[in-house]
Amino acid sequence: AHDYLIAPSILSADFARLGEEVDNVLAAGADIVHFDVMDNHYVPNLTIGPMVCKALRHHGVTAPIDVHLMVKPVDRMISDFIEAGASYITFHPEASEHVDRSLQLIRDGGCKAGLVFNPATPLSYLDYVMDKVDMVLLMSVNPGFGGQSFIPGTLDKLREARARIDASGKAIRLEIDGGVKADNIAEIAAAGADTFVAGSAIFNAHQAGDPHGYDSVIKKM
Ligand code: DX5
Ligand code: ZN
Repeated sequence: AHDYLIAPSILSADFARLGEEVDNVLAAGADIVHFDVMDNHYVPNLTIGPMVCKALRHHGVTAPIDVHLMVKPVDRMISDFIEAGASYITFHPEASEHVDRSLQLIRDGGCKAGLVFNPATPLSYLDYVMDKVDMVLLMSVNPGFGGQSFIPGTLDKLREARARIDASGKAIRLEIDGGVKADNIAEIAAAGADTFVAGSAIFNAHQAGDPHGYDSVIKKM
């Protein structure tokens, strides 16, 4: 029995109305806010930074904010996001010179720490740091953009990650990011994920009779 968390990725929100969009997805039943940070260096896109995280806190968002760092180097941004009110901070191990140190930095700041695995990144990065990880995030697309298709091979990788987490005996969350939709979330959950990022599926929905567009999608998930 897992407790499942739905994490809308605000990458697909209307940035001109960000506070309202976040309030609406939380009111519709979302559990945590997925916050994608891109630097046009580690990934070929540029998004939002710690000031926007802080602005959401000042706006009144009390839900956990799940900061996904797609930046290189990572440590400076870790410190800034701790200060800005992040709850989870995850980073890509290839982007850190000292993975253990970066994880420790996150935990010393009182946040939950996680590693993110690109589709071709091996889970062996977890071998010596399982005791410093609160979350494992598997990318089911290559990072940088919303609206891409779920890479099917990620299901086997999820099963492998689930086995590692269960073997550790620790309460580590297993998050999946990229191409998650209402119609594939059940098989993704069956493969072991318990935390589901969904950007375009939630924010681009425009069902008739749904004033915010995303309520019915979140309910289906
Ligand atoms: C991609 C980001 C994702 C993205 C997912 O690099 O990490 O969080 O917003 O978008 P969808 O759900 O549209 O695939
Ligand atoms: Zn993400």
